[in-house]
Amino acid sequence: MLDIQKIRADFPILSEKVNGKPLIYFDNGATSQKPQVVIDAEAKYYQEINANIHRGVHTLSQLATDAYEISRVKLQHHINAKFSHEVLFTSGTTHGINLVANGFASILKSGDEILVSSLEHHSNIVPWQMLCEKTGAVLKVIPINEEGELIISEYESLLSEKTKIVTVNHISNALGVINPVKEMIAKAHAVGAAVLIDGAQAVPHLKPDVQDLDCDFYAFSGHKMCGPTGTGILFGKEEWLNKLPPYQGGGEMIKEVTFEKTTYADLPHKFEAGTPNIAGGIVLGTAVDYLNNIGFGNIQLQEKKLLEHATKRLLEIEGLRIYGNGKNKASVVSFNIDGIHPYDIGSIIDKLGIAVRTGHHCAQPIMNFFCIPGTIRASFSFYNTKEEIDEMVEAVKKAKNMLS
Ligand code: ALA
Repeated sequence: MLDIQKIRADFPILSEKVNGKPLIYFDNGATSQKPQVVIDAEAKYYQEINANIHRGVHTLSQLATDAYEISRVKLQHHINAKFSHEVLFTSGTTHGINLVANGFASILKSGDEILVSSLEHHSNIVPWQMLCEKTGAVLKVIPINEEGELIISEYESLLSEKTKIVTVNHISNALGVINPVKEMIAKAHAVGAAVLIDGAQAVPHLKPDVQDLDCDFYAFSGHKMCGPTGTGILFGKEEWLNKLPPYQGGGEMIKEVTFEKTTYADLPHKFEAGTPNIAGGIVLGTAVDYLNNIGFGNIQLQEKKLLEHATKRLLEIEGLRIYGNGKNKASVVSFNIDGIHPYDIGSIIDKLGIAVRTGHHCAQPIMNFFCIPGTIRASFSFYNTKEEIDEMVEAVKKAKNMLS
């Protein structure tokens, strides 16, 4: 059993007031809050070892390089990648997906097919549309059912030898639905397609095992898992990263530069041009340590309780509909109340100190499927409590009465 009050004390922002009320933070799907150890580690880096990495022989540069590379290895172990050079530091999930989509421009030809799902965030749709424009490849879309689950039989019929890459999220940001990615990866591999998993919404809730999943790429962000903004990881299988061309040219990604011909550095540096977010990369390792100390088993137990409680309590409100009711769900509840715009509810409960996200959640195709402009999304983290959920329910009821 987690001592939630003790955990909450690790997060200074959770004691803040917003609009004169104690903050109730239910926008964890957008970004998580940061524990003091993460905040301190960022300051410590700048106070004690700030220097550029992989460049200087001087002591500080070596200390910073070591800390950065130790963090890479920590991330490698966290996701169970075979090699640390399969773990690329990025600025976030969007960067990782764009890196892969850009690389596939040299692989795809006209008529090849890319499969995305109806549950994707725009950042896992638009880069592939741009790639289709560039190459003449065709985008195919895996449909969902009324519960917000991918229809796997339709997925199977979309797969063919024309499919070159399948790109799907592990957990939907808008609905919280957990997709059967392991099964989907095996089916894609059976027709020779590569698979990218957008793990942005999964990594706060679970520890992905990229070897067990057998995915070719797995992209995620640090800021949703208690780490700093502007950090992320792209895992790529060694053979794929060797096959793809560099994403950006610049310093550190080269072996030798002449005006006649430049050769590229080995992995992972081939994909890490320019000075990266050094502090962020190091501190992402601190965030991963923090989460592993709590334990993902404990995190899941706590979040399951929160999800069940929120679902039950919210459904007591007449006219409230929850979107995404599949069996496998992360701690996210996306809902609307008949005849009321989600933005209006969000604005009223914000005045009561409650932070939720309202709108299309960068997933307009899902909203179009349900014929709605958006939803109110409450996304819970292990540091949230049932009492906070009860306060949100009362606030939503109040807002409903004001707006009806
Ligand atoms: N992708 C983030 C969200 O779902 C920003 O809110």
